[in-house]
Amino acid sequence: MRQPDYPIEPLILNRWSPRAMSGEPLSDDELFPLFEAARWAPSSHNAQPWRFIYAKRETGAWRALFKLLVPFNQSWVANASVLVVIASHTVFESSGKPSLTHSFDTGAAWGNLALEGAARNLVVHGMQGFDYKKAKCVCELHHDYAIEAMIAIGKPGKTEDLPQDIQGKETPSSRKPLKELIINLNKKS
Ligand SMILES: Cc1cc2nc3c(=O)[nH]c(=O)nc-3n(C[C@H](O)[C@H](O)[C@H](O)COP(=O)(O)O)c2cc1C
Repeated sequence: MRQPDYPIEPLILNRWSPRAMSGEPLSDDELFPLFEAARWAPSSHNAQPWRFIYAKRETGAWRALFKLLVPFNQSWVANASVLVVIASHTVFESSGKPSLTHSFDTGAAWGNLALEGAARNLVVHGMQGFDYKKAKCVCELHHDYAIEAMIAIGKPGKTEDLPQDIQGKETPSSRKPLKELIINLNKKS
C-alpha cells in the first residue's frame, strides 16, 4: 500500500507499472483515449513535439518493435497488446530552431498517457531497455527526431503467468521522501 506524505489525487498515487498482461487485443476505441490524453499535455510554445509510433500485437511491425527490446523486457512484454515508441521533435516546426524542452514536453505527454491508462485499468509500462539507434531506423524517423522511450500497453494479466524470476517485482513501488526532492532556496546557507 502506497502512503503519500500529503493527500493527492488517488489516480496519481495508484498508477503503477505492472508487467503481467493477458495478451488480449486492444481496439482503437480502447487504445486511442490514451494518445488523446497525451495530446492535451502542455508544451513550450504549444509545439506538441511528442510522436507515438505504435504497432498492435501479431503484426510484422509489432515483431519489429519487440526485437528492439533487451531480453529482460522481452520476457514480460511478450503478452503486451500494443508496443509504442515515443519520439520527440527536437526543433520547432515554425522556425526550425532547436527546442530546449522537446524531451521535457514529451515526458509530460507520456505522464498523461500513463494516467489515462491507469484510469482505464490498463497496463502501461515505460521502457528504456531497448536499442535506441535501431528504433530510429525501424520507425523511419527523420534525423531531427529523438527517441525518448518505449511503452508496453495491454490488459492486466496474472502474476503467475510471468517468468518466475520477475513475479516478485509485481507490486507498486515506493518513493524517496519529499524532502529529498525539493529544495527551499531561502533556507540554503
Ligand atoms: C522512461 C522509463 C523507462 C523505464 N524502463 C523500464 C525498462 O526498460 N524495463 C522495465 O521493466 N521497467 C522500466 N520502467 C519502469 C520503472 O522501473 C518504473 O516506472 C519505476 O520503478 C517506478 O515504478 P511505478 O511505475 O510502478 O510507480 C521504466 C519507466 C520509465 C518511466
